[in-house]
Amino acid sequence: MIIQPRVRGFICLTAHPEGTAQHVKNQIEYVKSKGKIANGPKKVLVVGASTGFGLASRITAAFGSDAATIGVFFEKPAAPGKPATAGWYNSAAFEQEAHAAGLYAKSINGDAFSDEVKAKTIELIKQDLGQIDLVVYSLASPRRTHPKTGVLHSSVLKPIGQPFTDKTVDFHSGVVSDITINPVESEEDIANTVAVMGGEDWKFWMEALKEAGVLAEGVKTVAYSYIGPELTYPIYRNGTIGRAKDDLEATVPVINDILKDINGVSYVSVNKALVTQSSSAIPVVPLYISLLYKVMKEKGIHEGTIEQMQRLFAERLYTADGQIPVDDKGRIRVDDLEMRQDVQEEVAKLWKEATTENLEEISDIVGYRNDFFNLFGFNFPEINYEAETNEVVNVPSIT
Ligand code: NAD
Ligand code: NA
Repeated sequence: MIIQPRVRGFICLTAHPEGTAQHVKNQIEYVKSKGKIANGPKKVLVVGASTGFGLASRITAAFGSDAATIGVFFEKPAAPGKPATAGWYNSAAFEQEAHAAGLYAKSINGDAFSDEVKAKTIELIKQDLGQIDLVVYSLASPRRTHPKTGVLHSSVLKPIGQPFTDKTVDFHSGVVSDITINPVESEEDIANTVAVMGGEDWKFWMEALKEAGVLAEGVKTVAYSYIGPELTYPIYRNGTIGRAKDDLEATVPVINDILKDINGVSYVSVNKALVTQSSSAIPVVPLYISLLYKVMKEKGIHEGTIEQMQRLFAERLYTADGQIPVDDKGRIRVDDLEMRQDVQEEVAKLWKEATTENLEEISDIVGYRNDFFNLFGFNFPEINYEAETNEVVNVPSIT
């Protein structure tokens, strides 16, 4: 079929198999161009491996460190006449490239929050890899069925305390407007968001893996967080999602305790704001990202997901002397360039000026949009989007 973007709100309903494969190839090429990561991981589990930071982590482990990788994700395969989700095509392309390079790569497509998928993953590790030495936890989801209670928790993206009014952009039309977001009405909204995006499931994974004996001596695990500038605090760090991130960060010592007797260690890495399927759904944030991109590109310090994850592995998790640089709260920071004072001062100034009329000029809304379409395999100059393509791709290593 001929596959073109079909956009509804902040999601794109279609994805292009060859375009997503191009996106994956470009990321692989970037990682290869940086050379091998000394003392990198060898057997890696990535939970949330199909898009965004998780996919970039998997690519970095495989092509930067020759690692065998198992990916877990929740994606839809194609049916005739109906393309797969971008994450499914990404994973298919990744596995084809990994296999061609002689690297082990298999994936489990299912609900990572469930006990079943954890058990299936453990079986696969036992069968194929024995033990793993790195677990990357990179889930982003709007809901979670709790495996013990069966309760379905839905997260909300809201401020806590008072309503928040600020600028936002519809990144498709480029219209800048004011938006007021009402605060949560109950503690339950906060608790639900923490249940979905907090640290409990990460802990459940590490407990199950540890108990099954599939974690190697000295195992590392890392999950991803965000802080960002004061202007997004009401909706992000001081809002419901921020409470979930506080909880995720508070899970680090809990997991360290689980891993103590095998000398394992857990980290949260605070990453840069980037265009992903998850971040495009947060009000106010797309306008911030488009201004941030403009400033960081002008300064020559812009990074995408793959640059971030390559740097996380090469300059944080696996340094030559084995020391992992962290902040005063024990967190890894690869948002260091985003948070630089000169960058934030310029973004704050542009934020005050931004209007529908000057948006194209003062922001990188064009780059934002391009990155958004790239997530679904569109806007790649190498691909002819008028041509017929096979929507159904078969990759037996994804089960
Ligand atoms: P993403 O939407 O690109 O990736 C989410 C991944 O989770 C996908 O692989 C998806 O298949 C998987 N997933 C979702 N629900 C699942 C389920 N029930 N079972 C199995 N897999 C499931 O998101 P992202 O932006 O890469 O976010 C990953 C992490 O990084 C999140 O913790 C996020 O908060 C954090 N982070 C994001 C940003 C940003 O700007 N995007 C910045 C800093 C930190
Ligand atoms: Na991810």
